[in-house]
Amino acid sequence: MSAYIPIGPVDDFPFGRGKQVTVERRQIAIFRLDAGIFAIDNLCLHQAGPLCDGEIEDGAVTCPWHGWSYDLRTGILVQDGRVGVSSHATRIVDGVVHVQLSS
Ligand code: FES
Repeated sequence: MSAYIPIGPVDDFPFGRGKQVTVERRQIAIFRLDAGIFAIDNLCLHQAGPLCDGEIEDGAVTCPWHGWSYDLRTGILVQDGRVGVSSHATRIVDGVVHVQLSS
């Protein structure tokens, strides 16, 4: 399992919106919500739309290009339960967000 990697102060992540970061050359979308900080791969499986720019509702983000939705905890496609994008563990230590990349 990979190590947790610091990606920046929690205040750098706008509340209720997504933000893209690059971690070990992977594009990751970070979402700061009431329920915590969530991380999923940024590129939509359909045509690589930027999930960091999607609308967030009920724990899911909807791709801004054609509307595919992904569960922010699991990355699973909400519409049909198929495996979607990878999700990644996060934690906050001393006000800094860390992400642990999954495979
Ligand atoms: S690129 Fe995301 S739904 Fe088409």
